[in-house]
Formats: sequence, structure tokens, C-alpha cells
Amino acid sequence: MQDGKGLVAADQPFYCELRAGQRSLWCACGKSATQPYCDGKSHIGTGFLPVLYRAKADEEVLFCGCKQTSTPPFCDGAHSNLAGGYTDEGDRGEDQAVALVSPDREGFARLDGDCYVVSPGKSLTDLSPDCRISALVTPDLGSRHQSQFYLELDRGQSPMFGADGEVVIWVAKGEGRIIIGGERFALSQMSGAFVLADETFALEGENLVCYISVCPAADSLRIVQEQAAFHDAQPERMGLIDEGARTEMGPRYFQVLLDDTDGLTNSAQFIGHIPKSRAKMHRHLYEEALIIVSGHGMIWNETRRAQVRAGDVIFFPRKHVHSLQSLSEDGMDVVGFIHPGTNPGINYY
Ligand code: FES
Repeated sequence: MQDGKGLVAADQPFYCELRAGQRSLWCACGKSATQPYCDGKSHIGTGFLPVLYRAKADEEVLFCGCKQTSTPPFCDGAHSNLAGGYTDEGDRGEDQAVALVSPDREGFARLDGDCYVVSPGKSLTDLSPDCRISALVTPDLGSRHQSQFYLELDRGQSPMFGADGEVVIWVAKGEGRIIIGGERFALSQMSGAFVLADETFALEGENLVCYISVCPAADSLRIVQEQAAFHDAQPERMGLIDEGARTEMGPRYFQVLLDDTDGLTNSAQFIGHIPKSRAKMHRHLYEEALIIVSGHGMIWNETRRAQVRAGDVIFFPRKHVHSLQSLSEDGMDVVGFIHPGTNPGINYY
């Protein structure tokens, strides 16, 4: 036991369902025979004490199994950086047991359950001669916690939008501005921005391509005539790339662009890099929409797989078993939006 951490009891967290008020005594020493819980005796003499957790509501939690977490009793993703904690399954090539699916006429390739890949741009609706939009992720398409829309603006200004939730934008191409209330913020390619739930926004610029996430989920973005006020209490609205803020995750890394510390509610936008590799099948407790920024690869489910390339979006329901394989020599860059949850480094099997 080094650095104040217990022994590695497991290389992944334990998924547990708790009832409101239920008390759990999490093993911190790593020696308990009843993981992830304390067995009442194994910690004696180790200097560790178990950690009590009382569920505030009916909850699904991931109790740390590796005992290296910085957020005990919960997993913080540290297990991915242990020796053997991140497994590359290698290239399975043309695995005939997992059917390769192709996109339909609207650009959707349907995988297992409600998981899918969508190539934007096949079913755009004109909002004006210079502005088009399509829905990529909505409750109608299978989401429960978030939506995502794809918007192209050739020049000038988009209509003004309102949404019944927080709005998080990824600028995939172009330069311009976002107007929130009466405030303007410069937008550049490869940056994020957000809008609070009761604000309005419009985009202006040239050759802008944006992915617009809304949380909670909404079936559409509302076009509104009346501009709502800008919330001065939250003056910063941009999510910018900062290589110094990266978090290692085995051979991968990610950087959170926007999260609760910026004013979001239990959600996060992040950018990540996946070297040429294929991770072990895993799942998350959050729902995720993942934009492929560069590179190409294969998204694997248990019975289906689909090719992905730059510009595509993969929708992952909560607890959905998957693996994203990068097939590019330079790896794959991705931008994700997750909810509920703020740590894209937490996974379980
Ligand atoms: S299992 Fe320990 S940090 Fe995830």
C-alpha cells in the first residue's frame, strides 16, 4: 500500500444499485473479501478505514475497485491508468459474427438497441437561403437525456434560437460569433461555447458548421422572435483547447472543455484522442453523443458494427456495451457531450 492508497482489489469499478437512504461501507484498504464493501476485519492494522456512503435517492453508482480513486468511494477513472487497466483488444478485422451495417438514405447506421451512427448533411431543412439544420440526436431518435442538431451557415446570421435546456456548441468549421442576449463572443474552428437554459442565441459568420447539443433533450430548437437577456453572473461562455489540461486515460487522453465549473448542470463537453487501437468493450453510466473530428475507424456493439469517419456522430445510450476502434495511423480526435455525468474517463465492463 503506497501513496496513501489501498491494494488494487479489482481493475474496474463495481456497478451497484442503491435505494434511497441505503448505507454502504466501502472498502478502502483493498483487502476485504466482500468487495467493494468492508468485511469488518481485513483493514485492521492497515491504517485504512472504510468509507461510509448513504444514498441520497435511488441511485446507480460505480464504487471504485482499484482503490486508487481520488473521489472515494466512487470511481474517478484512475483504473484506466493502472498496468493492465486499459486493454487493447487489437484489430479483429472482418469479424463475421458481428454484422457490418451501412447508413440508410438519411445517413443513419443502426447498431444494437438505440445506438447508432449518423452522417450529417443528408436531410437538412432550410431555415433561410444561407442556413440549414438537421436533427442528429433527439428523443424521437432514441435519446433520453440530450439532443444534438447540426447547423450550416454560409454567411450572415442564423435565426434566433431558444431551447428548453442548456445549449453546448461545437464549432467544427468556420469563423464567426455567437450572440447570446445582446452579447457577442468570437467563435473559431475547434472551440466550444454554451448558452444557459433561459437565454436566446444566434450564430453569425461565414461557412460555419456547428453541432448544437441541448440538455435536457428537446425534439427541436425553437426559433424565437424576442431576445432574452444575457446572464451577467456567468460572463465566460467559451470552451477552448488547452493541451496542459489533458487527462491521461491509458494510451488515450481527453480534455474537458466545459462542465459544471463553467455553469452546466451535471454534463460535460470534452475533446479526446484515440491512438490507432481498439479498446476492450465497455460501457458508461452517462448518455453520450460523440463527434468524430478527424480520422476514421469502426464502432463495435455486441452484434453489429459500423464504419465511422470525420464529421459523423455516434449516439451511445446509457449502459450500452461498445468499443470505438481507431483505424487511422495518426489516431482519431473526437468531441463528446455527456449527461448525466462530468467525467468522460469513467467506464466499466
Ligand atoms: S475502479 Fe478505481 S478509479 Fe475506477
